[in-house]
Amino acid sequence: MGRTAIAALALLLLGALLVGADNPIIQTVYSTDPAPMVYDGRVYLFTGQDEDGSTNYNMRRWHVYSSADMVNWQDHGVPASLSTFSWAKANAWAGQVVPRNGKFYFYVPIQRTSGSMAIGVGVSDNITGPYRDALGKPLVDNNEFDPTVWIDETGQAYLYWGNPNLWYVKLNQDMISYSGSVTKVQLTTAGFGSRSGNAQKPTTYEEGPWIYKRNNLWYLVYAANCCSEDIRYSTGPSVTGPWTYRGVVMPTQGKSFTNHPGIIDFNGTSYFFYHNGALPGGSGYTRSVCVESFVYNSDGTIPTIQMTTNGPKQIGTLDPYVRQEAETIAFSSGLKTETCSEGGMQVSQINSNDYIKVKGVAFGTEGAKTFQARVASASSGGKIEVRLGSTSGTLVATCTVSGTGGSTTWATVSCPVSGATGTQDLFLRFTGSGSGELFKFNWWKFDNAA
Ligand SMILES: *[C@@H]1O[C@H](CO)[C@@H](O)[C@H](O)[C@H]1NC(C)=O
Ligand SMILES: *[C@@H]1O[C@H](CO)[C@@H](O)[C@H](O)[C@H]1NC(C)=O
Repeated sequence: MGRTAIAALALLLLGALLVGADNPIIQTVYSTDPAPMVYDGRVYLFTGQDEDGSTNYNMRRWHVYSSADMVNWQDHGVPASLSTFSWAKANAWAGQVVPRNGKFYFYVPIQRTSGSMAIGVGVSDNITGPYRDALGKPLVDNNEFDPTVWIDETGQAYLYWGNPNLWYVKLNQDMISYSGSVTKVQLTTAGFGSRSGNAQKPTTYEEGPWIYKRNNLWYLVYAANCCSEDIRYSTGPSVTGPWTYRGVVMPTQGKSFTNHPGIIDFNGTSYFFYHNGALPGGSGYTRSVCVESFVYNSDGTIPTIQMTTNGPKQIGTLDPYVRQEAETIAFSSGLKTETCSEGGMQVSQINSNDYIKVKGVAFGTEGAKTFQARVASASSGGKIEVRLGSTSGTLVATCTVSGTGGSTTWATVSCPVSGATGTQDLFLRFTGSGSGELFKFNWWKFDNAA
């Protein structure tokens, strides 16, 4: 067997292993530095991006995804990139979005054209963007990075950031200016634990702080020790401490020498977001965002959380009888997404044997009768196999996609369905004889009409 054949077989086996998995939660790009936010009944997840095949940090844009069930994630595209900020040169690193006054503020670390790191702020009326540069220059500029923001109940907002130090400043109500001086947090071993063998960095604090308040306790969670990093945390009685070191949240695991925390409560459950190198081709420079659910201990401490391939349980089910975006995905293989000529996003680079998994689809007892898909094909098209349970599971429909005469010439194809009842994991498997892109895919919908 040649090397190419061995590599192909290895990918197939890996693909087969990953079919049961839902972590990493983004597969269409390598994703980094998760910053989740609960808004209007959904979780919005902002990430960075590692370019395919990267062997160093080559990060140029951010992405945003959302989910109401914590397993199927809708891709909303690129809300901001280096080109949003005229003074940016490189390093679209770990950002966070917070809502205020009906607007959304996106705090991002960027390398300036002058070469130093700074923190900029984007603003948008829409959570999914596009964000524009609110200032035309950095908000803070001390050659450190990784911002996190919290607004307390008096309305005072705090911006924390830093590597190798930890800093904070009070943001004004406008969220794009600050009052008072930038304050350097004293990194004591009582506050941040002790690291051995690094005289420059006596505490475990490294980078990527994530600040929040829960049940009257303030939490500062951060990437610790380098490298490889793990995730640790400290708690305090106020937003500015004093901080008490509390230990490890997530041990070093999973093929990436960095990690980054993001924590939310949603629908009565607590979730921990992080990144690793678990996708095929994954490494410290081709990372992927994952999520786990967890339960706080009764004293408010955080248990040690392990990386898994399963991720959290689904909240509720997905309704197949309303239009669902093709880019709403629990897991996928071989696909990319891009903006759609009909609005929103579409699935692209569909080749034979690629697939989309959508988890927990509630077909009901009557079951589905027809399947519709919105497609455009500049080539001769292909087929969509509608399967249940796995890529080789029960075939309940096959839809033929013919050439539509262009990649922005859309058609709705439909085909009869039989045997799709109950709640099932849906697999849309694409096949075709062409070697290029078979078609583009905007949305799908089942019908249960007789
Ligand atoms: C935000 O933008 C999306 C498209 O990206 C659109 O579907 C949505 O309606 C917008 N929301 C608001 C509140 O304007
Ligand atoms: C969680 O979501 C489910 C399904 O949408 C809903 O029925 C339930 O009320 C929610 N629970 C909480 C605690 O928000």
